[in-house]
Amino acid sequence: MKVLVLNGPNLGRLDLRDTSIYGNLDFPKLKEFIENSASENGFQADVRQSDSEVDIIQWLHEAAESKIPVIINPAAFTHYSYAIRDAAEMLTLPFIEVHISNPLRREEFRHTSVISGIASGTIAGFGPDSYRLALIALKGLLK
Ligand code: DQA
Repeated sequence: MKVLVLNGPNLGRLDLRDTSIYGNLDFPKLKEFIENSASENGFQADVRQSDSEVDIIQWLHEAAESKIPVIINPAAFTHYSYAIRDAAEMLTLPFIEVHISNPLRREEFRHTSVISGIASGTIAGFGPDSYRLALIALKGLLK
């Protein structure tokens, strides 16, 4: 089964971000890790990244229309994008919010997620394993 794995702004440049927060995988390596974890769990991952809210909203529309489950790391959009939340609300299959870091251990503005309230669940703080754990959870939800 196909799964869309969407990544928001600045995640494409993990190579430039603080490694003490985001670890040592650059985005191409993270993508490979997600693709491998997906196939280990019987999924085919379509991993995408954009710095644009518009792209992410359009990809969510596509997932809603084609009935594809979604794993999403909305990055900074997590904290304020009602437009992404509204688009995610159109999904009928499970969608899981993930974060590489644990936003609740970080600055106060990261303590709010406008997405969590409509997600099937949220996995945060396990580095790239957040995506692997989300794939395992998704497999359980789709059984
Ligand atoms: C993030 C956490 C967000 O607060 C931040 O804006 C990101 C990445 C994470 O994966 O830990 O860009 O979503």
